[in-house]
Amino acid sequence: MSKALIVANWKMNPATFKEARKLLDETQKAAERTKISVVIAPPAIFLREFTSRSRGARISFAAQHAHQEAGGAHTGEISIQQMRDAKAKYVLIGHAERRARGETNDDTRLKVAASLAKGLTPILCVGETKRTQSGEYFNVIAEQLRTALADVAANKLAHIIIVYEPLWTIGSDKTMDPREMQMMAIFIRKTIVDSFGEGGHDIRILYGGSVDAASAPAMLRDGDVHGLLVGRASWSAVEFAHLLTAAENA
Ligand code: 13P
Repeated sequence: MSKALIVANWKMNPATFKEARKLLDETQKAAERTKISVVIAPPAIFLREFTSRSRGARISFAAQHAHQEAGGAHTGEISIQQMRDAKAKYVLIGHAERRARGETNDDTRLKVAASLAKGLTPILCVGETKRTQSGEYFNVIAEQLRTALADVAANKLAHIIIVYEPLWTIGSDKTMDPREMQMMAIFIRKTIVDSFGEGGHDIRILYGGSVDAASAPAMLRDGDVHGLLVGRASWSAVEFAHLLTAAENA
């Protein structure tokens, strides 16, 4: 699946800029051996150096998180505009680890709208914390999508990426069965089409949660997804290179 989009979420890693630069250079080399679109989401402090170091390369960059306001008294925050100025092209919104720290559906709505207004592509993460037999998690996902997209015009849907990343697969050894992901992809599209009409079919959907070189090909082949959001397997250039090769041959 050569057109896959693979987003590497480095989270709060690595520990030093020197290590980060090495990981970037090796990741970039691995990415250039494939046709896959690779996006790196490094810690914000590395972003500007990275975008200038990789100018002209095929990889692009995402912010892991950003604040929706253009400025003001928000200690410790970085605005979407500032991320754009550092040459990020994408921004992760509503990652489970941010939601666990209090980010609400309403916050994601403001961030999605502000990202589109400032020209960054929102990568909206949705996912339930747990599953039960009664299937309430479908309601959780529908609510996350409806609220986050409430201020979006239908003609902007093609500029948004949705990631389904259930909390119970993040940082664990459980990936999801691609057939279950396929069902979830249908549900996500249906929810969006119900609100926006046929344009909802254009939305790109990724899967995230314990993806590695072994699980990536089946997910890309059978999960009805346009790509993957990868945590741990992107923190080692060797592992990530294996993943990209496996994805390319999926
Ligand atoms: P892991 O791939 O380490 O499970 O992390 C998933 C994730 O949260 C990516 O955003």
